[in-house]
Amino acid sequence: MTRYVSPSILAANFGNLENEIELINHSNAGWLHCDVMDGVFVPNISFGIPVVEMASRVSSKPLDVHIMIIEPEKYIDRFCSLGIDILTIHLEACRHLNRAIAQIKEHGVKAGISLNPHTPVEGLSEVISEVDIVLVMSVNPGFGGQKFIENTYHKVASVKKMIEQSGSKALIQVDGGIDMSNAGKLYDHGVDILVAGTTIFHSNNPGNTIDELLKA
Ligand code: DX5
Ligand code: ZN
Repeated sequence: MTRYVSPSILAANFGNLENEIELINHSNAGWLHCDVMDGVFVPNISFGIPVVEMASRVSSKPLDVHIMIIEPEKYIDRFCSLGIDILTIHLEACRHLNRAIAQIKEHGVKAGISLNPHTPVEGLSEVISEVDIVLVMSVNPGFGGQKFIENTYHKVASVKKMIEQSGSKALIQVDGGIDMSNAGKLYDHGVDILVAGTTIFHSNNPGNTIDELLKA
């Protein structure tokens, strides 16, 4: 099983964002995570299309775009035309999930579905074979630097079982409150990709921290 780390630029120094992304370009990170928040689906506003466009130009890592917005269907074509690699939308925000997944994949972009901590895994059962990534939120979305929710291990195990039983090729990603105390255990539970913001960008040496998370 391949292990990936996807650093979240939400915790980066925005006054020096290009250099922060360059730093990740020279690391062993697998992807670069961009959190788009609209202030409606989540109680916070982060950044939008111009920042994702800039990140797509500067990043040599596949761009992993996590949109926490209502009516994501309205913006799929715009985000997918920015040269990104992965677009993840929230199951709770999307009325026509099957159509939205197809719309993302039509652009040759990988489709991810994210579940808030309270959302049962069963909501994925009819689309699990279509998606490329299942993003299990390990915090209530909207902010970096929050505490990891322990029930995530149980949820990951349920997603893993659903993927295996359905023959789906989907990868499992976990996002929120990730650090050295939970990274190894999450990989052991079958997680493929760890998203980390604060742990990486607030450390003295982000490159080393990424390596430590990968070895956890
Ligand atoms: C939260 C975001 C996360 C967040 C992770 O809604 O989706 O990607 O930036 O940040 P940390 O690692 O600081 O919890
Ligand atoms: Zn995220």
